Amino acid sequence: MTLFPRDTTRRDDELVTGSDAATRALSVTVVENEFVEGVYEKLASVYDLTFGPALQAGRIRAIQRMAINPGDTILEVGVGTGSNLSLYPRHGQVVGIDLSSSMLEKARERVVRERMSHVRLVQMDAADLKFADRRFDIVYAPYLISVVPDPVRVAREMRRVCRPGGRIVFLNHFLSAGPVMSRAERMLSPLTIHIGFRSDLDLPAFLAQAELKPTSIEKVNIPRIWSLVTCVEEH
Ligand SMILES: C[S@@+](CC[C@H](N)C(=O)[O-])C[C@H]1O[C@@H](n2cnc3c(N)ncnc32)[C@H](O)[C@@H]1O
Repeated sequence: MTLFPRDTTRRDDELVTGSDAATRALSVTVVENEFVEGVYEKLASVYDLTFGPALQAGRIRAIQRMAINPGDTILEVGVGTGSNLSLYPRHGQVVGIDLSSSMLEKARERVVRERMSHVRLVQMDAADLKFADRRFDIVYAPYLISVVPDPVRVAREMRRVCRPGGRIVFLNHFLSAGPVMSRAERMLSPLTIHIGFRSDLDLPAFLAQAELKPTSIEKVNIPRIWSLVTCVEEH
């Protein structure tokens, strides 16, 4: 089954396995945690207005697709201001982590306001998760993976804390397959990082380097330039 959209310059199987997918650069843009923290420090007060409703359809779809069972444990990596929190069924146990104290502060206000006793929030770096191996049933990164300095390292941490047979889910914008859009996204990426994300994260290269095999990839939001990527942890 072909999971990636058709590219006029490369065959689909090259896109999935990609002869150089295991080694090529994931993005033209290099970032560090300090820079990202600074960006989100500034964004925290306007985040819900700018990235709230515009990206909500994808968040709703992701949680529908998870079909969370009573007692399931969910780790949300990069919980931000908590835009996803009210979408989780209260029969699950949710832990949200984020690097930014300003974003977490907003999430904490939301948890108190909406009395979400099934949610716990912790300040933590996604690249260095302070949880035991195999701790969670679902590990979910909404709109995070194109923000972090080392997406593959974060994916490895997400895999480590996910139980065998559990799900690892990414909701994100990735580099387009078409040559015109992808060229524009590469050019814009050093600018978009200033509003919180890289526009050119290469999905096939990311999956190959993180040794993840998606069970589904679905386009979400309008315009349909965001992807919901679901993987099952095999180890
Ligand atoms: C685009 S926001 C997404 C927030 C939320 N998940 C949503 O759906 O709106 C990205 C979040 O990732 C957080 N973040 C960035 N780098 C991180 C890291 N290394 N570890 C944990 N969180 C990080 C940022 O502070 C920010 O809150």
